Amino acid sequence: MSARRRLREVHVKGIELKTAAQIAKLREANRIVADVLDAIATVAAVGVSTWDLEMVARRRLKELAAEPAFLGYRGYPAVLCTSVNSVIVHGIPRKDLVLKDGDVLSVDFGAFKDGWCGDSARTLPIGVISDKAAALVEATRVSLEKAIEQCVPGNRLGDIGWAVQSYVEKRGYSVVEQFAGHGIGRHMHEPPQVMNYGPAGRGPRLSVGMVLAIEPMVNEGGPGVVIEEDGWTAVTKDGSLSAHFEHSVAITENGPLVLSRAQNG
Ligand code: MF3
Ligand code: CO
Repeated sequence: MSARRRLREVHVKGIELKTAAQIAKLREANRIVADVLDAIATVAAVGVSTWDLEMVARRRLKELAAEPAFLGYRGYPAVLCTSVNSVIVHGIPRKDLVLKDGDVLSVDFGAFKDGWCGDSARTLPIGVISDKAAALVEATRVSLEKAIEQCVPGNRLGDIGWAVQSYVEKRGYSVVEQFAGHGIGRHMHEPPQVMNYGPAGRGPRLSVGMVLAIEPMVNEGGPGVVIEEDGWTAVTKDGSLSAHFEHSVAITENGPLVLSRAQNG
């Protein structure tokens, strides 16, 4: 190899490895995402429309001098995805969708700061939700934490999917297989696809510098998905409730570093 050869290998199996400085940039972008999600969580309540939430996100984004990642992506018409009850992901904010007591709302948001992308989602209870709904939301949240625990160098990509699937199926829920998480960096979607199911011990080894957006989508009923006529809104085929959480996670020598955590020291 020539003397010009890079001193550091930057790709493993097509997955870009980020330097510590690049991870710091990704952390900035993800802090902005967490800030916007915090702002939305404060406002989301009975009587508020999902378009009102879109407006909150746009305003906060401007204040933070960042760019939206979803708006215009493959023609997506908003900066936010707002997915209520049986909507799994990619719900488009609307003025005529007013939140009501007992709703379960997934909010997914992505932003670019200085050319680096952040991506995260949370499922929020609106008013008082049923115990059944709360259990689904909590199981989905914990399944993401179980997946994050697998983000240590030397583990394999498949360990992430198995962590999600084994956790939620034990509780009688199903994993949505039609959508996956992804690598993230200068682009919102980079290799690899991060499945939320499949056997442990398979796939590329996780190594220091990989950054993954992990996003389990979990249905109370069956795993079936239907896409509505707008070409985006993904709903459960059986009309059952669905929940979704997402974090952008860097793999470091010290294990997982959750870049999109609200209070990250
Ligand atoms: N977090 C989702 C994803 O990673 C959100 C994308 S919405 C889109 O795919 F509109 F931008 F596609
Ligand atoms: Co994502």
